[in-house]
Amino acid sequence: MKPCEIKKGIYWVGVVDWNIRNFHGHTYTTKRGTTYNAYLIVDEKIALIDTVLGSFAGEMIERIKEIVSVEKIDYIVANHVETDHSGAMPELMKLCPKAKVIGSAKCKEGLYRYYYGNWDFQIVKTGDKINLGKRTLTFIEAPMIHWPDSMFTYCQEEQLLMPNDAFGQHYATSERFADEADQCALWDEAAKYYGNILWPLSGVILKKIEEIQKMGLPINMIAPSHGLIWRNDPLKIVNAYASWAKNEVKDKVVIVYETMWGATEKMARKIEEGIIEAGLLEVKLFDVASSDRTEIIKEMLDAKGFIIGSSTHDNDMLTNIAGFLEFIKGLKPKNRRAAAFGSHGWAGGAVKSIENVLKETGIEVILPGLTVQYMPDEKQTKECFDFGKRFTELLKS
Ligand code: FEO
Repeated sequence: MKPCEIKKGIYWVGVVDWNIRNFHGHTYTTKRGTTYNAYLIVDEKIALIDTVLGSFAGEMIERIKEIVSVEKIDYIVANHVETDHSGAMPELMKLCPKAKVIGSAKCKEGLYRYYYGNWDFQIVKTGDKINLGKRTLTFIEAPMIHWPDSMFTYCQEEQLLMPNDAFGQHYATSERFADEADQCALWDEAAKYYGNILWPLSGVILKKIEEIQKMGLPINMIAPSHGLIWRNDPLKIVNAYASWAKNEVKDKVVIVYETMWGATEKMARKIEEGIIEAGLLEVKLFDVASSDRTEIIKEMLDAKGFIIGSSTHDNDMLTNIAGFLEFIKGLKPKNRRAAAFGSHGWAGGAVKSIENVLKETGIEVILPGLTVQYMPDEKQTKECFDFGKRFTELLKS
């Protein structure tokens, strides 16, 4: 794949990782792969914005060589220390040892702790600039979007924002621009990225969006470090981030359960029917043990209601659903309503445990939990249906 000129004299020199299927140590499934985007700005001075995963260093370097000699790079801007963006630096620095590395103070610390390189490093803060000739780069610190070292780089003359992980998607494509790609897959991946990585940082993200709006920076292109580049109304993704960060939700319910011998699953399916009967069309149902957690979380991102079920085992919920709820707790969802259900043999416990975790997570439990001993009979099956209906009525009220 050739370098892609995204603006005159500015090139995508990243890498498409078609086959990666797990990210962040298996906490995130990447069924559509990902990209590591690096951008080369050729001016009187030459700047490279971010690099790629270490195993792809050679490919990125070859791509740069198609445009300039690598030793001519004057600046390497490290917006983020995480190795999917900095991993190629040791190999790159061997070829351009005099290049100045630019990043936040935390980035300097982090890069040293990862690579122990003795590189010429310039620490920058929000508002600091470097002049490349015709263009200027302005830096905006963005701590906890999503690491303490994170930073955005903005080029005023090109109205180009390079915000590293923010506004990205794990989506490997031959296209480079968002408007060229499959829109369903694009937005699916953008939501999945927000839900699984950025959701707990929503407060910081909202403040950063407001800060950038106050800075009055015109933006006609957003070039993130994963996935496709936003041009033609790049603010669409900013507005989507603002909505997700405000925890704006719709009349949608996600049911997630784990079942031992099928009774809790039977309950889940009847509850779902009751929800639809009450007039809610968007309901998603997942058996947590056989579903992709990354996908479930994407569905929960804009859902007003969560219904969580588990069979009882050792007076508690089953282990997969317990792990799932722990993950949800870490995502700190706001403005959600929930209920719990499940079957048990001789003694219950799962439903109470689920309700406790939901409350600890700050989720309002709006209906007393529904329990059934062994398999639901006809009357109890009807109760499950009514439970779904009642939950929906309360959700809509
Ligand atoms: Fe894409 Fe935080 O690394």
